[in-house]
Amino acid sequence: MRTKIVVGNWKMNTTVKEGIQLAKAVAAASSNVNGVKLIVAPPFTHLTLVKEALKGSNVELSAQNCANKESGAYTGEVAAKMVASTGATYVILGHSERREYYGETSEILLNKVKLALANSLKPIFCIGERLEERESSRHFEVVKAQLEEVAYQLDKTDFEKIVLAYEPVWAIGTGKTATPEQAQEMHAYIRKVLAEKFGSKAENTSILYGGSAKPSNAKELFSKADVDGGLIGGASLIADDFIAIAQSF
Ligand code: 13P
Repeated sequence: MRTKIVVGNWKMNTTVKEGIQLAKAVAAASSNVNGVKLIVAPPFTHLTLVKEALKGSNVELSAQNCANKESGAYTGEVAAKMVASTGATYVILGHSERREYYGETSEILLNKVKLALANSLKPIFCIGERLEERESSRHFEVVKAQLEEVAYQLDKTDFEKIVLAYEPVWAIGTGKTATPEQAQEMHAYIRKVLAEKFGSKAENTSILYGGSAKPSNAKELFSKADVDGGLIGGASLIADDFIAIAQSF
C-alpha cells in the first residue's frame, strides 16, 4: 500500500503572521482527514514557527528548497541541515519554478537530493514537461530524462525515501489541469521507468500530481490508480480548500 500524501506548497506567499494562522487552521481541521498524510511547505522564514503552530496535529512540515552545498560562505542559502533543525521532515526539490527561474539543473538537484537525504529529510522531487514539449509529443522523453538524471542516481535505500511529484508546467497556476487520464498515463509511465531501475520498489513510491488541483477536480484525479496524492499550490493557501482536497480520496 502506497502512502497517500497531500502537500501544500505555499510558494512565496504569506507573512509570518498569516502563515502561522494558516498552519493553525490546517492543524485544527486535519482531524477530519483520514488515511492521508498532510504536509505544509511554507517559506524558510516561517518553518520554526509553523512547526510550533502544527503541534498536537499529525501535519508534517516541509521546506520548499535547500542549498546544494553543505555549509559555509554561500550568502542567502539555507542548508539541508538547517532545514532539518527546524523540525521539517520533507523538502520540495526540482520544482519547475526553481528549474526555470533559478537555473537549477539536474546536476544541482542531485546534490540537493543527496544532501537532503544525508540530513534525514525526505525529498519531494518534482518532474514535468513544458507546454511545447507536450505539444511536440516529447513529454515522456523529458520526464524520463529528469528521472534518469536524478532518481536513477540514488541507491535503493535512498530511492525508497523519496516522493515524486508530476507537475506538468503548463498546468501550474494556469487553471488548466491535466485530465485525470493524462495524469494517470504519465504516473503509470513514471512508475514503469522507475521499475526498470528499482524493480518492485517502484510499487511503493508515492507519485503526487500537481498543477491547478482544487476541491472540484481532486476526486477525479485521486481516483486514478497511480495518482497517490497532490502537490497543491494556490488552493493550499485556503485551509478549507486544502483540507477538502485531502478529503477527496
Ligand atoms: P497550483 O496548484 O497553484 O497550480 O501550483 C501547483 C504547484 O506548482 C505546486 O507545487
